[in-house]
Amino acid sequence: MRLLIVDDEDESRRLIRSAIEGIPVDPREIEEAASGEEAAARLAQAPFDIVLTDMVMDRMDGLKVLKAAKDARTETEVILVTAYATIESAVKAIKAGAFDYISKPVHAEEVQQVVLRILERQNLLRELERFRDEVESRSTIDRIIGDSTPIRQLKKMIQSVAEADAHILITGETGTGKELVARALHSLSKRKARPIVAVNCAALPENLLESELFGYRRGAFTGAGADKRGLIEEAHGSTLFLDEIGEMPLTLQAKLLRALDTGEYRRLGDVKAHHVDVRVVAATNIHVERAIREGKFREDLFYRLSVFHVVLPPLRERVEDIPLLVQHYVREFAEKFGKRTEGVKPDGLRYLSRLRWDGNVRELSHVIERAVVLSQGTMIPIEDLSQIVGDRAEAAEPILPLHQVEKNCILEALQRCGGQKEKTAQVLGISTATLWRKLKEYGISAQAAGRAARAANERDGSSE
Ligand SMILES: Nc1ncnc2c1ncn2[C@@H]1O[C@H](COP(=O)(O)OP(=O)(O)OP(=O)(O)O)[C@@H](O)[C@H]1O
Ligand SMILES: [Mg+2]
Repeated sequence: MRLLIVDDEDESRRLIRSAIEGIPVDPREIEEAASGEEAAARLAQAPFDIVLTDMVMDRMDGLKVLKAAKDARTETEVILVTAYATIESAVKAIKAGAFDYISKPVHAEEVQQVVLRILERQNLLRELERFRDEVESRSTIDRIIGDSTPIRQLKKMIQSVAEADAHILITGETGTGKELVARALHSLSKRKARPIVAVNCAALPENLLESELFGYRRGAFTGAGADKRGLIEEAHGSTLFLDEIGEMPLTLQAKLLRALDTGEYRRLGDVKAHHVDVRVVAATNIHVERAIREGKFREDLFYRLSVFHVVLPPLRERVEDIPLLVQHYVREFAEKFGKRTEGVKPDGLRYLSRLRWDGNVRELSHVIERAVVLSQGTMIPIEDLSQIVGDRAEAAEPILPLHQVEKNCILEALQRCGGQKEKTAQVLGISTATLWRKLKEYGISAQAAGRAARAANERDGSSE
């Protein structure tokens, strides 16, 4: 329990402190501030669980302290202490977000009772949070859909590296699920009790990104009206998700590396170092090794971050997951839009499996979303899909059944070898007997070989 007592009278602070020291909670830290301004400064520096503040003080009164406390951290509970307890001021305090108020002169039991009520509530909330986390962490990894070998391996890897408290780098093309995986990693980590803090390094210009990440001191630049904590500090004890880290400017990369190396950093315009304990999960869709060669990404930071390197497979390397993903998204969007769509017809699924999907799962989900919105019946037909996809997504080489590939290959070899069987068998790396057997199996006559091979080449694009 971290507690701050704010009062301009020494005697008053002493009374409250001794009342609180009578509460058997451990660990306990009590700090004091003799003015509203001093209180505001402390609140900006470090988080408090409870603030007990005098109502009437010069310049910055109790209501202002209350606001500063809530601004710094909404979970902080504030108790107002007032010598002029009136219904009116009490209502005002509670409306402004105070937990309760007590009247002066302070009685030890009254102080203790209110503080205990807060502790009880905070314990309950924490328990509730733990329960919710448990439910969530069970589902975050389950939100990663797929049964292909790469996805199974990915899930296994997530399970095993999540608990190790090391930094992690996630790379993969756009839409492959980097954010999804980052959140799953956090939800399975030891740090899951605190919320993950996400920063998109591509979303802000350099100076803003720096002040968001590291915070600043009042007066560090024009517009810096009050001290501000950075996101790195918000993530203290938790996970800092640095999305699109490839876009982070080199100077900031250096500053980040220093913070990770030493566990300390400074806010902009501050001389004081702050201690920080964060686990970084960084993600990028750029080719990191290339960026390093081109001098756009610091090699030392790369090594620092990639204690574990998770590489997400593009959708084209796990086409067998497409039906599962489609089913998932049909269900999701049907519910969202109140449609009775249940799935995609088999030829539609085959069609989707043959597309390129440069935008990976995100692109697939968008196509399904539109198909569900447009759908009339329960099963989405191939025509709806091809209309949505249009010629935007270029069809990949069709995947042929293995026996068809083998047949085409034999025909091609026969043609190139001018129909000579010994030579053809040699080129194919099989015995002449095996070649004979396969020719018979596929019904290929030697004379037809050349003609058939040419035809096969032309047919290539259209057969299924
Ligand atoms: N394996 C998967 N199973 C289920 N949904 C997935 C999977 N992979 C990605 N998605 C979904 O696809 C969408 C895009 O995923 P995400 O935002 O994590 O991609 P990303 O890799 O961060 O892409 P970008 O580099 O463009 O930011 C999200 O809606 C996500 O839930
Ligand atoms: Mg992303």
